[in-house]
Amino acid sequence: MTMWIPSLSHQGVRYRAIAESIAVAVQTGELAPGEKLPPQRRLADRLGVTVGTVTRAYAEAERQGWVLARVGSGTFVRGGEGSAGQDFLASRPVADGTIDLSLSLPPPHPMRAASLGRVLHEIAEQPAVLQRAVEYQPDRGVPAHREQLATWMTRLGMPADPEPLIVTQGGQHGINLALQSLTRPGERIVADVLTYPGLITAASQAHLKLQGVPMDDQGMDMVALARLCAQQAPRLVYVTPDQNNPTGTPLSETRRERLVALARQHDFWIVEDGVQYLPEAERGTPIYRLAPERTLFIFSTAKVLAGGLRIGTLLAPPALRERLGTALRAQSWMVPPLMVEAVCRWVASAESDTLLAWLIEELGERQRMARKRLAGHAINSRGHSNNLWLPLPEGLRSAVFVEALAQRKILVSSAEPFCVGSEPAPQALRLCLSAAPSREALAQALDTLAELLAAPPAAPWQTL
Ligand SMILES: Cc1ncc(COP(=O)(O)O)c(C=O)c1O
Repeated sequence: MTMWIPSLSHQGVRYRAIAESIAVAVQTGELAPGEKLPPQRRLADRLGVTVGTVTRAYAEAERQGWVLARVGSGTFVRGGEGSAGQDFLASRPVADGTIDLSLSLPPPHPMRAASLGRVLHEIAEQPAVLQRAVEYQPDRGVPAHREQLATWMTRLGMPADPEPLIVTQGGQHGINLALQSLTRPGERIVADVLTYPGLITAASQAHLKLQGVPMDDQGMDMVALARLCAQQAPRLVYVTPDQNNPTGTPLSETRRERLVALARQHDFWIVEDGVQYLPEAERGTPIYRLAPERTLFIFSTAKVLAGGLRIGTLLAPPALRERLGTALRAQSWMVPPLMVEAVCRWVASAESDTLLAWLIEELGERQRMARKRLAGHAINSRGHSNNLWLPLPEGLRSAVFVEALAQRKILVSSAEPFCVGSEPAPQALRLCLSAAPSREALAQALDTLAELLAAPPAAPWQTL
């Protein structure tokens, strides 16, 4: 059996880098529950560090709860000891070395599990809190939760105010609440011609006619939208103004104002989705600030903290709050208060600021890595986005690239899932740089892609 060796690309204190590498390996499945870590002396020799450094690293990984030291037999990954109760999530397929860049997730960091563990412990030790958390609560969330989430969003530079804030089960839920409250089956809604697939599915489920508006390098084409409105005003326009998903293109400031003017003229609602996080300096003026009377703003903890928390927020004009509350009650009465409590405690802690600072640094570095390796290609992305959009050079087909990469265990998306209706898909790839389990894995995937771009695979039909 080959010995597991931590990858130490990160600058900084060695023992912490080793501990962090252990945490990442456990989270990505590279180290399995019950697996034994390498003997300390052998690992120290391989890494060219002292045994003391490895001892300290293992102790740190144990303190964070990833491993367990057994006197006389070594250090083992937690989860295989059979004493901690059944792990119902462990039935997920074990990672087989596939680098999945098809889903937009935040990069793994050990602090995520450590912070969540801490807040769950805190809650578990307070029976009164636990008791309240299993009772029915107001549909829009309790005032203290709404206040805490608004405070957090303000710290992120997002539009926020506890009064209009509704706690949701994530961004997708926010979209569904908006559609359910603002539309009736058969009505027409509008989005960029390439848009977030969750909107496309939600519109289809709600029996809405979704129409795509063309885009250019300034975002949605407002002349085309005005033409469409002149024929028949849509019920609502869905936008992701800071970065279109998948292309990354932001909506220019002038067009944000034009969109608001058109909304007022033709009396449609604006659903503004800010779920794909960007640092404040890279964002434009929220449309919610330009037109709070007709904009619903959707946010989520998914891209900053973790996707599985299923906690998000929806800001809405006062006139809609009762309708949104009714929709929420009809769907699930409320968002599980236990989860909201955990998230509120997490975002109230300095740890969440540390995690955010790390996230921004990590995303910036991943974007730099991609720019370097894909230099010369017409990529489109933001400095700290999760994603990168790569229009393929003339003559190349995205289906061929998706397949060739999949054969090399690298998963990426073509433009197809983002296309509204039967609009033609551009030949391009969306890479979620943030989803790579480590910088090394990302470098490997990008190098493979660069090699394929330099010597493109033949399309199967060209070999006929
Ligand atoms: C633009 C956009 N909106 C909404 C979502 C869904 O967010 P959540 O996971 O919080 O439901 C995503 C997820 O990728 C997204 O990219």
